[in-house]
Amino acid sequence: MTQTTRTFGGAEVHFPPQSSAGAGDEFVEVRVTSPGASGADRAGSPGGRNQRIRLHDYERIFAVPGLYEEIVQRRLGCRTPARIAGLLARAAARLGWAPGDVRILDAGAGNGVSGEAFAQLGMRPVVGLDILPAARDAALRDRPGVYGAYLAADLGALAPDEERLIRDAAPNALACVGSVGGGHLPVAAVAAALELLAPDALVTYAYHPELGADPLLALLRDAEPLVRERALHRRTVTGGERHCEAVVVRLARR
Ligand SMILES: C[S@@+](CC[C@H](N)C(=O)[O-])C[C@H]1O[C@@H](n2cnc3c(N)ncnc32)[C@H](O)[C@@H]1O
Repeated sequence: MTQTTRTFGGAEVHFPPQSSAGAGDEFVEVRVTSPGASGADRAGSPGGRNQRIRLHDYERIFAVPGLYEEIVQRRLGCRTPARIAGLLARAAARLGWAPGDVRILDAGAGNGVSGEAFAQLGMRPVVGLDILPAARDAALRDRPGVYGAYLAADLGALAPDEERLIRDAAPNALACVGSVGGGHLPVAAVAAALELLAPDALVTYAYHPELGADPLLALLRDAEPLVRERALHRRTVTGGERHCEAVVVRLARR
């Protein structure tokens, strides 16, 4: 990959030479050019010094407004949140659901890129949820009003009051955008989330076929398949390609 350096909001971003690594082992270098200007110092990078950050070190990346979007969306070309939102909206429309009737539990919501993509198509991300408090902080900081509520919680170990909040929001869709498999949401956590949905509900997710078979295939075997589509997820930091398979299913009535 061309080693261009790009500056945004007080920080420079570039990809240092590195071996073509697996999903969790990619690095980016961030250099703060004007400390405090963008909150970039919160990534642990004092002005003028390069800081090497693992791409999956979400806490440090979310600490800097715009850094996740700069790296993942703009530099690595990830379009998966918008693509999944489009697939979910079209699947819902084919079932006769108005966009505003799609009430989404966005699991592994990160700093809200996925929630924003759903909202842009008129759907309602009624609850965002992420295991990292830093993700919630970033979503509320950068995308206030996108989510009805945002919980910092482990989807696989929800407290009774967290479950109640989700049930009260009456989600009829579960989205796991870039958050299933690969060290993120385990199957058991997704299984627990299904129990919080309306009886007639959609589930959408994307997984990386390079990492193995669809992790939710067995869990969702009785669901009605609506969409299954493979596409480029993003480039890797070394210029390779990472693909994902996007899936939408409708849960069988229980
Ligand atoms: C690749 S990010 C995707 C963020 C967002 N959905 C997007 O499309 O930009 C995956 C997110 O899943 C979250 N995550 C991983 N395990 C989780 C768990 N057990 N419960 C809730 N969130 C989890 C991570 O903290 C991370 O923010």
